[in-house]
Amino acid sequence: MTNFTYSEAALDRLRASDSDVFNALMREEVRQSEGIELIPSESYCFPEVYALLGSVFNNKYAEGYPGRRYYGGQENTDAIETLARDRAKNVFRAEHANVQPLSGCAMNEAVYFALLQPGDVILGMDLTHGGHLSHGHPVTNMFKVFKYVRYRTEIPSGLIDLEKVRQIALETKPKLIICGHSSYPREYDYAGFRKIADEVGALIMADVSHMGGLIAGGALKNPLDFGFDVMTTTTHKSLRGPRGGIILCKKQHASAIDKSVFPGMQGGPHMHQIAAMATMLKLAQTDDYKAYAAQVLTNAQVLAQALLAGGAHLVTGGTENHLLVINTATGFGITGDIAEKALDKVGITLNKNVIPDDPNPPMKPSGIRFGTPAATSRGMGEGEMKQLANIMLQVLRAPADEALLAKLREETRAMCKRFPVPGIENGKEARK
Ligand SMILES: Cc1ncc(COP(=O)(O)O)c(C=O)c1O
Repeated sequence: MTNFTYSEAALDRLRASDSDVFNALMREEVRQSEGIELIPSESYCFPEVYALLGSVFNNKYAEGYPGRRYYGGQENTDAIETLARDRAKNVFRAEHANVQPLSGCAMNEAVYFALLQPGDVILGMDLTHGGHLSHGHPVTNMFKVFKYVRYRTEIPSGLIDLEKVRQIALETKPKLIICGHSSYPREYDYAGFRKIADEVGALIMADVSHMGGLIAGGALKNPLDFGFDVMTTTTHKSLRGPRGGIILCKKQHASAIDKSVFPGMQGGPHMHQIAAMATMLKLAQTDDYKAYAAQVLTNAQVLAQALLAGGAHLVTGGTENHLLVINTATGFGITGDIAEKALDKVGITLNKNVIPDDPNPPMKPSGIRFGTPAATSRGMGEGEMKQLANIMLQVLRAPADEALLAKLREETRAMCKRFPVPGIENGKEARK
């Protein structure tokens, strides 16, 4: 075995003590290696990240912040958290960084409680138009605490009309306005949003969870360059780090944000996760990383053009970032769930997705959502995007043609062989 994802000794122990979980792990390695991942919120972490996630930092309690902890033995944890904070500030040109949020939803909740009082109004993007659950969807706990109002995209353009956002803000007087999404294929007008926030006296934050890596790599605009109060990002999507969240903010909010994360919401920070974040943030400053971020966007453009040429109906007519949404109902006469299942059979993983003002329910929505960060991180480029579009179009036109799906499955498997997943290059073969 030469795989460097996990320590050999630890893997041998796992195989001996829990073959059920060991076997699931082996199967998941094969699934990830032999399939093309197009879920736009996923990518493959740097191999270094596995080393730190599986490290002894997992054992350490470190409640508090560097230099102010509630437990002893912190010389190494203080060092890595300080590195992670400094690197996050440097990468995102931020005045302050908190790297302790355990995940994206927790990170956003910490911001709400830091800056607002229960009952305050928050203006965010409607989930069915591309917003995220953690921006105040009625099923979330936060919906019981704050009053959420929403802006939407326009039909049929699929774009945000800033004047309408302004009117809603003037009418509802939010204390916080949120930019950010999980399925809006366009850049935001951050300067325009900042202006609206100034006009109504609101704070403004951007949740760039999907695009954190593309902003770090200089491929997309950085909201902090437009005077945003707060920016949040998950670290496990395009950033290619461990699962987790980072809150970046102006100095004036630093103390409230830190107190809201700990002790407000969390206990001991996950130091193995923070160690991995520190390394990821170092790697995010390299030229290779900049090239990766740029290639993610190029690949999305090439995929979009090839799909459009094949008759796909893209929400907003294209993409300016890493993700695309297709209306499969109008373009191919099938709902997103059918498209998702058929594509799964050929080894392409993506997700069914509602489109703006979707007439269909969320489990049988009208569209699919996909993106390029994961495929790009295994080295796929423009040629592979064209090939991928061609495969996808064939599937979308004939989702029930099992013989065709089986043939296309062989084609995706052959593509995958040429582009090993970072960190599990030798997975299946090496363990035989
Ligand atoms: C914009 C946005 N914010 C927050 C989150 C939540 O992240 P997590 O799943 O780590 O809680 C996501 C996850 O997809 C997201 O897309």
